[in-house]
Amino acid sequence: MEIFEEIEPLRAFLKGKRAALKSIGLVPTMGALHKGHLALIRASKAQNEVTISSIYINPTQFNNQADLDKYPRMREADIKLLETEGCDVLFAPSNTEMYSGYQSLTFDFGTLDKVLEGKFRPGHFSGVALVVSKLFNIVQPDRAYFGQKDYQQFQVIRRLNEELKFSIELHSVPIVREESGLALSSRNQRLNEQDKKNALFLYDTLSNAKVQLLKGMPFSEIKTEAETRAKKKGEVKLEYFELANKNTLQELEDVNDFKNGILLIAAFVSDVRLIDNMLLVAE
Ligand code: PAF
Repeated sequence: MEIFEEIEPLRAFLKGKRAALKSIGLVPTMGALHKGHLALIRASKAQNEVTISSIYINPTQFNNQADLDKYPRMREADIKLLETEGCDVLFAPSNTEMYSGYQSLTFDFGTLDKVLEGKFRPGHFSGVALVVSKLFNIVQPDRAYFGQKDYQQFQVIRRLNEELKFSIELHSVPIVREESGLALSSRNQRLNEQDKKNALFLYDTLSNAKVQLLKGMPFSEIKTEAETRAKKKGEVKLEYFELANKNTLQELEDVNDFKNGILLIAAFVSDVRLIDNMLLVAE
């Protein structure tokens, strides 16, 4: 695997690949790779001749310094995993390389980034859009791959791609779960065995809600029940649990519009913030 830490040598390398008419797939990550990331690499390898993954912990998308400081960093293990998967290129830049001292550009996606994650992590999606724009400009991939676990992030990036005319084919790859149902996340590294059991609250709440909604139970009742269960549990601090339209992420207007419905949840387990989601009708 070729490893680049600087933009210009990477551009020169990719120019050569483009000149040889090789298709390029980009898998942006913040490292601490798990099977969910590897599914993205595999999806890219199946559709592109060159797969490039980036590992960059982007400071502008963290609205909480402690969260940024605690984000797991495991470069050597990540490199081994990428090599085992047959990833062709790794781009692992420094903050100076990515930002050159500037952090002033901001993005506003109207109602799309004001709800759910956006409501609880102000500025988060502006930081994501900024770094993803940079990566899209540097790599100019044919296709780019993101995990469905960050569902709202994918909708924001889709809008970014359309508005800035990047013309990149975007792919959202289904969530990879542990056997228990827990969605894989780099943050799970900070959970002990008991935390992991408590974290099942997210998946269980989503799965039960889906069944109850399909049986006709109003979402308001389902949500109240979930809030009560979280309070009783104590170890889980529910931040939000919503039923939304899967395209706009605003409240689902017609609760029977199952094909457009998605449930989204965020909760703290110990001091680790976890998110998960479930489409009412799988795509
Ligand atoms: O999903 C992530 O890991 C990050 O938000 C991304 C897309 C790599 C941007 O930093």
